[in-house]
Amino acid sequence: MERNDAVMPWVAILFAAIFGIITLFLFNAATAPKPVEVDPAMVQSISTEWPELGPKVYEANCQGCHGASGEGGAGPKLAGNEAILKDPARVYNVVHKGQGAMPSFEGKLAENEIFAVANYVLHSWGNNIEEPLTPAVVAEGQGKVDPEVLKNRSRFVPEGIALPEIFLLTFTMLLLSYGLIGLYSNWAEGEELHPGIHRVQAGPLGMLAMVVTLASSLLFSVLFVRQMMTDYVAWKEGVMPDVFHEGLWAGLLLLSLAIAVGLYKKYFMDGEVVVEDASGEFPW
Ligand code: HEC
Repeated sequence: MERNDAVMPWVAILFAAIFGIITLFLFNAATAPKPVEVDPAMVQSISTEWPELGPKVYEANCQGCHGASGEGGAGPKLAGNEAILKDPARVYNVVHKGQGAMPSFEGKLAENEIFAVANYVLHSWGNNIEEPLTPAVVAEGQGKVDPEVLKNRSRFVPEGIALPEIFLLTFTMLLLSYGLIGLYSNWAEGEELHPGIHRVQAGPLGMLAMVVTLASSLLFSVLFVRQMMTDYVAWKEGVMPDVFHEGLWAGLLLLSLAIAVGLYKKYFMDGEVVVEDASGEFPW
């Protein structure tokens, strides 16, 4: 007679919970976008000093390649340039980091000079953006994921989840499944394993539980299919699918199916306990 302990499964579940909590705290802090702190005095000086400072910086550093009126030359035309008008932060980033044949001005120009020249470019020769370009606008742009990148990203991975989180969460789920399987085996086969065939009998309660789980499986599969169809129509229009609800219905469907299988094994299927094989019950 062998013991079918429920201690180890609980230990596994406890560790899964601890890892889950660690994941939430540790990696949320690491991957959360940093709050943008903007000094109002800096914004004030950027908005007031660019009309005077901007042209000077432009003349000394940019004119040679982009032309006196932004008409272009060795560098592209900046007057009426759609790319920079749509994404003003781009001017700051290109000047800051450089791009292709254009040199980086980091260290050569002070931060306020970069903002001044960027605002000059964005407000001259017919260019006119509404708000002046400030560190807040630039920081906001950096927090965003490029739509081109998003398009290629699996729609099942929420934005902001990084690899370490995926690793830890996978491990957490493995531990959790291990624990749940152990608890299930303890419940279905009893605390003591008696070798041999076990005849089972479904009482009215087992029967009722079975009917309820099968009905809810049906319900969740209908909800899941309906959600998929709605999302497919929306997706063709370019709308992001409602991944949360797809996942929720699919998860509940799998859960109720798993419960149905468990109930079947406990109440409807004659079981056999082979003690020598008991360790082979575990998933690895
Ligand atoms: C040595 C020549 C050169 C100088 C000096 C230069 N640029 Fe450029 N710039 C370029 C080239 C070449 C590109 C195109 C880079 C690429 O995309 O390959 C460019 C691209 C840009 C872009 C992006 C345009 C777009 O359509 O994406 C901006 C904005 C810009 N420059 C602004 C400036 C400003 C402001 C200055 C002065 C601080 C400056 N550049 C100085 C050569 C120059």
